Amino acid sequence: MTKLTIVAFDGTRFDIEAANGSTVMENAVRNSVPGIEAECGGACACATCHVYVDGEWADRVGPPEPMEEDMLDFAFDVRPSSRLSCQIKVTPALDGLVVHVPERQA
Ligand code: FES
Repeated sequence: MTKLTIVAFDGTRFDIEAANGSTVMENAVRNSVPGIEAECGGACACATCHVYVDGEWADRVGPPEPMEEDMLDFAFDVRPSSRLSCQIKVTPALDGLVVHVPERQA
């Protein structure tokens, strides 16, 4: 298991024990984190699972793949730290990862 913190837009922190191999989106949905809609169920086809990766984690998580980058064009208030949470796989290397939910999805 890997520790993951998802911070809702209102500042509520969700500290989650995430299974390795699952995605950040799946953990957000399972824990009822508000603001993660994930309409397409993780197919990288909706951009409603948008999150901001916390500063120090951005390098370790890495940049989006081209398909994800194209979908991010549809997200609200995209920033350099933006990722689609269904495309972030939980691994032991991400233990302690923090992501933030934007004010709203697209
Ligand atoms: S859940 Fe649809 S793009 Fe992530």
